[in-house]
Amino acid sequence: MSWLIKFYPDLSCFEGIDGINNTKIRHRLKKLFYNDSYRVYPYEKPQERSLYKYWKNRRTIFKLIDEGDIFLTDELWFSVTPENLAQFTASYIRHCLPHAKYVVDVFCGGGGNVIQFARLFDKVYGVDSNIDHLYCTYKNAQCYEVTDKVNLIYGDWEAVLNKTLKNKINQKQDCIFASPPWGGVNYLKQDTYDLEKHLEPVSLSKLLVLLFKLCDNVVLFLPRNSNLDQLSAITEELLGPGEKCKVVYVKDNGYMKGILVFWGRPFYDFSDQYPEGNDNAPKLEQERDINIRMEDLY
Ligand SMILES: C[S@@+](CC[C@H](N)C(=O)[O-])C[C@H]1O[C@@H](n2cnc3c(N)ncnc32)[C@H](O)[C@@H]1O
Repeated sequence: MSWLIKFYPDLSCFEGIDGINNTKIRHRLKKLFYNDSYRVYPYEKPQERSLYKYWKNRRTIFKLIDEGDIFLTDELWFSVTPENLAQFTASYIRHCLPHAKYVVDVFCGGGGNVIQFARLFDKVYGVDSNIDHLYCTYKNAQCYEVTDKVNLIYGDWEAVLNKTLKNKINQKQDCIFASPPWGGVNYLKQDTYDLEKHLEPVSLSKLLVLLFKLCDNVVLFLPRNSNLDQLSAITEELLGPGEKCKVVYVKDNGYMKGILVFWGRPFYDFSDQYPEGNDNAPKLEQERDINIRMEDLY
């Protein structure tokens, strides 16, 4: 008769945790809720010294962090997408895909992107193979009061896409977003980041093969030193000669955070939405070297 009997967190937001094989995962999740694990006390530095610099900039990660209801593992301190950037990403995708209902975030981490998608779309599916991260996403979504729009799916991205999400995504209208792990904080040590060798858990081409099979509109968040020739070659190889992707360099807090890469016609051809001219179209006309002012899109 332990605490598990006395304590019943609402796990209805979580998929993929049922079944005999996942008893351990369900137990782990209940324990995380019970212990209130990973709560960030905003004025206490994290124990791990290497995380201080992220803690100093904590209000750029989640603007509500001072309310004391944000949850982060050590890995999430440096891998959550900062709020301004996640807001920009969601609002740009919303502008370009006005009929989209669902967004799938295949590596949802601590929910930085999930929360901003949930504010603008009917439903967000957040997938992660780390149950502690999925729990943090749930807690952070609770802080931003968007849990009713969020479905969290525990499992490996490939299995979840193939089994659970295959029939839910509308190939033409919806969007798949992915911010895959870049292989730790050392990704800038090389001049050019090799997207076939260093991206995790699979190479860029392997990731894109499945994402394109399910959806025409795909957005990735990648290192700022990503090899653009590789991006362009893989795009042509998978989608055909002359096919394009749009690359946008994004800065936050004065610092270049990475690139957003958009595949899908609605992200660069606005003639359907704005037949009378492009004046009202999202203002990202130049490719490659653009320095976005985030305020433009709020
Ligand atoms: C860079 S973080 C994502 C951060 C997220 N965009 C945010 O704002 O919080 C990458 C995430 O991918 C997850 N991940 C790694 N391998 C995975 C796999 N095979 N399937 C699903 N998720 C995986 C990690 O657990 C981690 O949470």
